[in-house]
Amino acid sequence: MSTQFSQIKRVTTHQLQEMKNSGVKISMLTAYDYSMAKLIDEAGVDTILVGDSASNVMAGNETTLPITLDHMIYHAKSVIKAVKRALVIVDIPFGSYQGNSSEALRSAIRIMKESGAHAVKMEGGVEIKESVERILSAGVPVMGHLGLTPQSIYKFGTYTVRAKDQEEADKLLRDAVALEEYGCFGIVLEKIPSQLTRKVSESIHIPTIGIGAGPHADGQVLVMHDMLGINKEFNPRFLRRYADLETVITEAVSNYIKDIKSKNFPNDEESY
Ligand code: KIV
Repeated sequence: MSTQFSQIKRVTTHQLQEMKNSGVKISMLTAYDYSMAKLIDEAGVDTILVGDSASNVMAGNETTLPITLDHMIYHAKSVIKAVKRALVIVDIPFGSYQGNSSEALRSAIRIMKESGAHAVKMEGGVEIKESVERILSAGVPVMGHLGLTPQSIYKFGTYTVRAKDQEEADKLLRDAVALEEYGCFGIVLEKIPSQLTRKVSESIHIPTIGIGAGPHADGQVLVMHDMLGINKEFNPRFLRRYADLETVITEAVSNYIKDIKSKNFPNDEESY
């Protein structure tokens, strides 16, 4: 981490902008609970996303659609209690903002008031204009999310790379410019071609955070369970694994079971 930014006591949207301006890449990871949020905050991650990917990795759902606003607030509250430095951004879940800016504002206010989070994220481009502007008018920072937007998975039909053709790439660029104009402080770009990420990141002033979007985004995000190798069934090309916790945890649990069965645990020192 650049020393200029490692000294920051509390990361703000303003500092993310400064990182982009000075060419320092932004780090983001997801978290959904107190213990993991504490570890990644202490490790120095710039921003934590309480993503609706909690629906997949925490609740075992196939998509992000079933997770509710109450669930997201529960996860966000647990994360916020642990975090001292990172900026915490919370996904507004499916069904809590689409097509209704009053509901979007109500959902954003509930997230901020009940969890203590610092910002919200929403999927979509020009179609969420009214919601973004209303939420911003209440003083809540908003992050956008373009490209593969998992809340629309049944419209896309697949999780393959988005915006490969010119028409979709042009629309994505227009959406990114529009989100900046509405006042978003940043945009997640998910699973789009690397050169499109470069074009978007050079065309707008606010930071872009990529996932499966190549090296040209102003920052990178991964789902924590994927990068720690807890969930090894998920193997997309963009995923770099930094640990093999599946093996570590399975071995630890097997040894624990073995020790109990063999009457090796607890021993005298572990007893009162
Ligand atoms: O919900 C999530 O984890 C996300 C990231 C994949 C960007 O939106």
